[in-house]
Amino acid sequence: MQNLITVILAAGAGTRMKSDIAKVLHKICGQTLLSYVADAAKKAGSGEIIAVIGHQADQVRESVKDVTFVLQEEQLGTGHAVMQARPFLEGKTGTVLVLYGDTPLITAETLGKAYETHLRDRNQVTVITARVSDPTGYGRIIRDGEGRISSIVEHKDATDEQRAINEINSGMYFFEVPALLRALEGLKNDNSQGEYYLTDTIEAILSDNGSAGAYLVDDSSEILGINDRIQLAEAEKIMRNRIIHEHMRNGVTFILPETSVIGPNVKIGRDTVIYPGTLLEGSTRIGERCIVGPYSRVLDSVVCDDVHIMNSVILESEIGSKTKVGPFAYMRPGCRIGSNVKIGDFVEVKKSEIGDNTKVSHLTYIGDALVGKNVNMGCGVVVVNYDGVKKHQTVVGDYAFVGCNVNLVSPVEVKPHSYIAAGSTITDEVPEYSLAIARSRQTIISDWVKRKGLDKKSKD
Ligand code: UD1
Ligand code: CA
Repeated sequence: MQNLITVILAAGAGTRMKSDIAKVLHKICGQTLLSYVADAAKKAGSGEIIAVIGHQADQVRESVKDVTFVLQEEQLGTGHAVMQARPFLEGKTGTVLVLYGDTPLITAETLGKAYETHLRDRNQVTVITARVSDPTGYGRIIRDGEGRISSIVEHKDATDEQRAINEINSGMYFFEVPALLRALEGLKNDNSQGEYYLTDTIEAILSDNGSAGAYLVDDSSEILGINDRIQLAEAEKIMRNRIIHEHMRNGVTFILPETSVIGPNVKIGRDTVIYPGTLLEGSTRIGERCIVGPYSRVLDSVVCDDVHIMNSVILESEIGSKTKVGPFAYMRPGCRIGSNVKIGDFVEVKKSEIGDNTKVSHLTYIGDALVGKNVNMGCGVVVVNYDGVKKHQTVVGDYAFVGCNVNLVSPVEVKPHSYIAAGSTITDEVPEYSLAIARSRQTIISDWVKRKGLDKKSKD
């Protein structure tokens, strides 16, 4: 395949979003609009990707890797935007793909097919077009007597007859580099908006004896551009269905699928069941035969096979097979949980390791700890990891039994096979096979209630 470079136009203000965030950094299914466009270009075979940025340029620059940025200080039109990428195109052969940063639904598959058509027909330019029921606002595709594209007329510059055409310009094109550079040379802004229109390059290329083609997409939703929050929600709905349907085709069950959001890079194993209200985000991988949800969020985590996660939040952590999490557990970044572990209700775990078969069943906080295998953490155990200045580590050895309501004041070590009595506050090492009791003994004061005159019965 010959060399393909992509130029993504992303300098516009996005005024209708009414936002302090750059439009292309708004997200659908957990990823920015710009990242979808860049990924589609990459998957379609593009090497270099150049983004033309303007408004909120610094934010945009920091948001993606493997993209070269050029600044368009003043937004004088789509043609002017592409002119900013000239330094990267001069002296090159090959093809340029032009995309918009706010059109995230375009697929690599469609781009690939349009590129094939472009190369096969030896076009200097191939425009990606769509038929839509309401073409208002879009550039219209004008075809000659033989059905070949002859120009694009912007809505504002179109006659009534032209406005009746429902084939529209998606704003995405494949250009041969030398033909594009020549066409940009002669671009003028003598139109109703006083802008340099990229669309005028079609006529320029044709009058330069070049050939132009149009590639009509099957599904016009792929070219949906996002200008406001309503379109953002519509695009998310389409993307959400696309992603979830793909998982269903691969053997994942969704209960009330319209309530779950799965990121585009998430992997889910077969026979896993996703219950309502589940968000799986970032680079999350879920194994086979898992049950996730209802109402759970898993971000950038690895979950092995046969795991159950109920009403819980898991961030940047790893969970071994057959482990049960929740309901209402909170796993903060940096946890490594073994196999067949129980992290029960109202348990919070942060930056800790927990070994195989360990049970942490209820109402517990574990922070900065190394907990071994086959440990039992009773109800209400707190790892006291913070002294007000620094965080410290606690180590709990294999087969240790930590009673209910125990405080482990870090740094402290509980050696393997030891027991800690309920209600103890542990500040010193607990040796192997020992019992630690760290609480005051119970005292009984006989008839205290009567002597104090607090006996309720005698008052009746
Ligand atoms: C453009 C097309 C129109 C097409 C429509 C599809 C032109 C002249 N018109 O119209 O035929 O049907 O897209 O959505 O090309 N941008 C820049 N710098 C600029 C101007 C625009 O980066 O100076 C970016 C915007 O951020 C946006 C994209 O280019 O992502 C399209 O710009 P927009 O002004 O929305 O173009 P339209 O007028 O909608
Ligand atoms: Ca637009």
